[in-house]
Formats: sequence, structure tokens, C-alpha cells
Amino acid sequence: MSNGTSTSDESRDQNSTPSGGQNDRSSVQTSEPKGNSDEDEKPLSSDGDGQQFQVDDPLFSQREGIFQNKEMVRVGWVPDGNRIVGRDDYISTISSCLNDAVYGGAPNHISITGKTGTGKSLVSRYVTRRAVNASVDDIRIGHTYLDCSKSSTEVQVISTIGQQLNDEDIYDEDEEIVNMPDTGLPKDKFYKRLWQILDHYDSAIIILDEVDLLKTDHVLMSLAKAVESNDTSCQIGIIAISNQINFFDELNPRTKSAFQTQELNFDPYNANQIQEILRGRDDAFRDGVLTDDVIPLVAAFSAQEHGDARKAMRLFRTAGELADREESDVVEEDHVRRAQDALEKDRFRDFLQGTPTQMKAACLSIAAKSLYSRDDYIITGELYDAYQQITNAIDMDTIGIRRFRDILDEMQLSQVIETKEVNMGKGGGRHNSHRLLHNPEAILDIVMEDTRFRDISRSSLKRSA
Ligand SMILES: Nc1ncnc2c1ncn2[C@@H]1O[C@H](COP(=O)(O)OP(=O)(O)OP(=O)(O)O)[C@@H](O)[C@H]1O
Ligand SMILES: [Mg+2]
Repeated sequence: MSNGTSTSDESRDQNSTPSGGQNDRSSVQTSEPKGNSDEDEKPLSSDGDGQQFQVDDPLFSQREGIFQNKEMVRVGWVPDGNRIVGRDDYISTISSCLNDAVYGGAPNHISITGKTGTGKSLVSRYVTRRAVNASVDDIRIGHTYLDCSKSSTEVQVISTIGQQLNDEDIYDEDEEIVNMPDTGLPKDKFYKRLWQILDHYDSAIIILDEVDLLKTDHVLMSLAKAVESNDTSCQIGIIAISNQINFFDELNPRTKSAFQTQELNFDPYNANQIQEILRGRDDAFRDGVLTDDVIPLVAAFSAQEHGDARKAMRLFRTAGELADREESDVVEEDHVRRAQDALEKDRFRDFLQGTPTQMKAACLSIAAKSLYSRDDYIITGELYDAYQQITNAIDMDTIGIRRFRDILDEMQLSQVIETKEVNMGKGGGRHNSHRLLHNPEAILDIVMEDTRFRDISRSSLKRSA
């Protein structure tokens, strides 16, 4: 599913506590938010991290459990550099863009795109932290991380950046500290105060994550032009991150011309990389509890779906939680399969919740096609036929093909299906063709939880396919 449509594992992890290489230079502002967010998660058991406690009541005895440090398989856990797998090239490009900032010079702006769970936020924060730690002694380098889904207006962005960088250590003893409120000033005053704060730094790295959620890209232009316009003497480097591939191409031309960037597109992980990522976390589990099949299977499932490390981590942990809840001594292949089923159903249920009935009928048509026809990819026209048969069977309104295409677009955005263009050969023309990214059986089960679809029989689904 796409961001925001799914359960806990989709939660952003910007609030997690960095675990490696924290900066400790007192003169330098390290302003990543603290505390552990990740996790409005629904754990299957609350084993914790393997600590042993003595409880008197025999009803609540403590087993040794599957995990020894469950924290490490939380999505929000930020690994040390040596556990960041398969991202060396990106790390090296980003670090060369930031290189001059380490010496107080001007960093290059960077725009990062890539699908969800491909390490964009992790790598950006990691390299930024390394740059700050590496900075030359009398150079003041500030860094700040902003989640634009939380601060999306121009004023929110400016005031949050200002507040995060506004450390009293940057001021001389007799200097008056700039006051940066949340609201209540004209916009130009917010900017003015931000420039005053930034003037205390030689350079600053500003990470704008989920940047496509900004209400206006004007703020990108103002930050990018600040030095050139003599607003501040601080050399600003922006790392802007989005999981919308075209976001930066589609910026308004004035912003684009001010905000010239090194562009990076993060690839999804393949099964081997996911295996390595998981092996870097296997000490979350007690020694010997992971059977050999577990990591390869989690990786295979995850790579097959979307190459998303966040989902892989969630599956890994959920398989462990399932084994733990069943008081098994080991985590086995079967736990992974059942965890995968449960998670998939959860995600899909969340996605479908509140969507129009037409979306459910469209989902049913692609699930039926995937189950009962031999093709992996199904062209739009065939899907539409199946959809019409389903809506007729249950006496439901049928939408036209154009609206049906919009629904397919939405399903693609939400990663329910994958769409590619196929050439049908001479005279056949080009057609969009779709593949379901989920288990069709699970989809049938969930759609049929809706009473309107309950009476549709397997045989009529088979006929529609
Ligand atoms: N290369 C990696 N090595 C180790 N762990 C990783 C790696 N990439 C991602 N992870 C794990 O997956 C989680 C998700 O990665 P991250 O938040 O960077 O994804 P993202 O590309 O920013 O996704 P989104 O677009 O959804 O924000 C990380 O917190 C980390 O736990
Ligand atoms: Mg991210």
C-alpha cells in the first residue's frame, strides 16, 4: 500500500533515536527529533527485549522468549553505518555533495526520489550526521530534519527549522537570543528571524523529507536562494526527499531554476540486499531461534512485492512475534508464511476501508482474474469485462471505462497492482496491463467481508474471469 493507507509499518520513523555516531560537539546543533515514534504498532505479543524480571504471581510467569533485543527489528530503529546495506553508491554521492559543508563551504542541494522503504530517509540522515561529526574544529555546521507531512505550510517550515537550529550555544554571552514562535508573525518576520539564526552557522544541512507534501514550493526557492540574495551568510544545503518520481521535474520553473540539485533515485532492494539487511538485525532474536529458512523467505516475499525494507522488517518481526505468542522455541518458515498472510490482509483491509464500492468491485475483478485465468498481467479491457460481470451479478451500478481507469491508477499508486504498457503486435496497439501484487485469495476474503459482495459465488467469479 502507499503511504498513509496502511497500518503501523507505514508510520514514518523520523522520530527514532539515532543509534550510531551521535554528534557530541557542544557548539553544534544536532536537531533530529528525539524519542521513538514508529510505533503505533499492534504487537502480537509484548515480549519486550528479553529482559528478565521476577514477578510473584504465577499467572504471569516470564518465558525466555524469542527476542533478545526486539528494538532492533522495529522499523524506526536506525542502524549504524556498517549495517546500512547496498547503499554505498548513494552514500558516496550524498557525501560528496555535502563535502564542502564540512569545511564551512557551500554544499550542493540534493533531490532524492525512490519508492517507499528504499532507505532514502535513513541514508540522508546517516550521511548528514557523518558530515556534522566530521566538520572541522572551528566550523559551525547545523543540521535539521523536517517531516513535511507534519510541517507543511511555509510558516511551519520556517519556524520549525528556526526552532531546531536555535540552540543557545550558538550565541555569544552578551547576545540576545532570537525568539522563533510557532505562529503570530507576518511571514517576512519569520524569514528574517530564520536568517538571523542561520547567520550563526557557517553551513547548514536541511533535510526536507516527504517534500511533496509541502503546501507551496516557494519555501524551497527561498531557502535555495538565501545566500545569493544575501539573506544570510550561512551556506545552506537542502536534501529534499520524495517518493513521487516526478516531483522535482514538476516544480514551478522559478523554483527549479533556484533549486538546482544533484538528483538521486533510490532503487528498490533485491532479495539479496534484503537478506543482508535482515542479517544485520538478526541479533534482535535470541541465539539459535531463527531457523535457516526464515531470512531467505522473508527476503523473497519482500523483494517479490516491492523491495521495501520497511515491510521486510515488519514481516521479520511479526513472524517472531507469532512464534513467541505460540510459545515456540524457534521461528520457522511457517511462521513467516502466516505472518505474511496476516500482514497482507491487514494492509489490504486498511486500504479498502472507506474506499467506494466500485474500488472493491475492481479489486474483486483483478483477484478473480489472477486466480482463474492463466495470465499474470491482464489488460484493462479484460479487467473491465470481468468487473462488469461482477457488478451485474450483484445488481450494482457500473461505471464507465474512463472512471474504471482512474480506479486502476489509484490501485497502482497504492501498490495494489503494478501496471506496465504492452504492445499487442500488429494492429493490436498498446495497452496497459496490470498485475496484482497481493494474494488473490486474501483479497477475495476481505472484499467479501462487505455484505454487498457476500453472496457472489466462486463459480460466478470463475465465469467472470
Ligand atoms: N540499506 C538499509 N540497511 C539497513 N536497514 C535499512 C536499509 N534501508 C532501509 N532500512 C530499514 O528500513 C527502514 C525504512 O527506511 P527509510 O525510512 O529510509 O525508507 P524511505 O525510503 O525513506 O521510505 P519512505 O519513502 O516510505 O519514507 C529504515 O528505518 C531501516 O530500518
Ligand atoms: Mg522516508
